[in-house]
Amino acid sequence: KRPAGAPDQALARPVGRIGVVGAGLMAGQFALLFAQALRVPVTITDLDQGRVDRGLAHISADLDKQVAKGRLRSEDAEAVRALITGTTDKADFADADLVIEAVFEELSVKKQVFAEVEAVVSPECILATNTSSLSVTEMAADLQHPERVVGFHFFNPVAVMPLVEIVRAPRTDDAVVATAFALARGLGKTAVLVRDSAAFVVNRVLLRLMGEVQNAFDEGTPAEVADDALRPMGLPMTPFTLLAMVGMPVAQHVMESLHAAFGDRFRVSANLQRLIDHGITGLWARDDDGGRT
Ligand code: CAA
Repeated sequence: KRPAGAPDQALARPVGRIGVVGAGLMAGQFALLFAQALRVPVTITDLDQGRVDRGLAHISADLDKQVAKGRLRSEDAEAVRALITGTTDKADFADADLVIEAVFEELSVKKQVFAEVEAVVSPECILATNTSSLSVTEMAADLQHPERVVGFHFFNPVAVMPLVEIVRAPRTDDAVVATAFALARGLGKTAVLVRDSAAFVVNRVLLRLMGEVQNAFDEGTPAEVADDALRPMGLPMTPFTLLAMVGMPVAQHVMESLHAAFGDRFRVSANLQRLIDHGITGLWARDDDGGRT
């Protein structure tokens, strides 16, 4: 059954080569997923060789873990590893059919990245953004081909979370949206088409809950107490464990976008901000044995 609002799948274009801008943890996870599920060449890029090398090392370690767990044959891991390359030069994206960005969650940075990528790719190359909360419309606004821009929003951890939000901006081409749906299907994900609005659907709902937990934290409830109180409620992950996984700065950026769009229904936590300003990105997480990390 065609998902609500999805264009005719006959319009989807083949994606034979993918570029990923950003070599952080999230970007690395989906670079690996692209190579592993689609068996296409994937190139990751970042600001310097150190970041690229760290990204490739994370991907490699993930493949080793899958082999150690008996989920992947070592020859298949080698084949996937060979598909993923790193570069610091976006000109290496010249042959890409799709480039997805996962850089710092700041509109001006993402616009700059798209402008640089547009200068080297073909006019048909799709530019996708993994933004959690920013306007896809604004990201496309100054490009020569705004119709090629689409939101393709994964959730953490990418390998196991089944959903992708596909974000259509007013000028996005039907063929681009159809290709995004085909890509999600190839990755084994469920895709939903969402409007280009602050934080789309999932984070808008999730952050109402997270926002209340953060309000309780700001009013004096320790993170550990909030997690212990909410653990029996059947959430897949307790709130502060989730915050540690997503990264507090990312979560805070999403909250800022929601606050800008919806006012005090979403309040940015002053205490979490103070912790982030001191370089603390996650508070604590309890492992399966009840120990704390
Ligand atoms: N990477 C890869 N695989 C992972 C993983 C990771 N980080 N974490 C868990 N898994 C795998 C496990 O290996 C396991 O696979 P097998 O069954 O094949 O062994 C499977 O996932 C289930 O894991 P567990 O049994 O250890 O743990 P669980 O039952 O608690 O499930 C979870 C783990 C799926 C992550 C679950 O805790 C969950 O759904 N958490 C909520 C995650 C969530 O809400 N994500 C959205 C965050 S918001 C976001 O990302 C968007 C944004 O824009 C900021």
